[in-house]
Amino acid sequence: MLIGEAQLQQRVQELGRQIARDYADHEPVVVGVLRGVVVFLADLLRAMPELRCEVDFLAISSYGSGAGVVRIEKDLERSIEGRHVLLVEDIVDTGLTLRFILRNLETRRPASLAVCTLLDKPAHRLVTLPLRYIGFSIGDVFVVGYGLDLDQRYRNLRDIWVIDPPD
Ligand code: IMP
Repeated sequence: MLIGEAQLQQRVQELGRQIARDYADHEPVVVGVLRGVVVFLADLLRAMPELRCEVDFLAISSYGSGAGVVRIEKDLERSIEGRHVLLVEDIVDTGLTLRFILRNLETRRPASLAVCTLLDKPAHRLVTLPLRYIGFSIGDVFVVGYGLDLDQRYRNLRDIWVIDPPD
């Protein structure tokens, strides 16, 4: 086990308080990137009940052998033009997926665009990206649980575990 439930919950509470403070006057659109983010986002939203915000979702799929080739499978329901957008991710590894999403959202002219990621895995980062809120920085390991999967399994574990992915 890498990060236990209590530690996750405590950090999510801190992030929620910080985001609620920072966005108090901005009525942000909180955008979750499906599907890995669902558990984290559900807890994060409940850690900032005082914040006026909208919630929307993007679903993306990677194809090819990674390399940041990403397709939007489900787009936002509403326009973000002129809105303050907080993009919420489960994990940033190479950063290629996030770069694709940020570039795409930037073309829609939001008032601001910032990123909150539960996990930051900087070992394989290929592109420099601004991550305003980071839950935990982790080493070069593959993790599952708390929304994160290996071949769609383990998302429902309450803690985050290191797993040996098959080669
Ligand atoms: P990136 O484009 O390399 O930053 O990849 C980000 C995506 O890869 C994440 O949204 C996850 O879907 C997946 N990913 C990267 N590392 C892990 C991990 O340790 N566990 C589960 N999924 C991961």
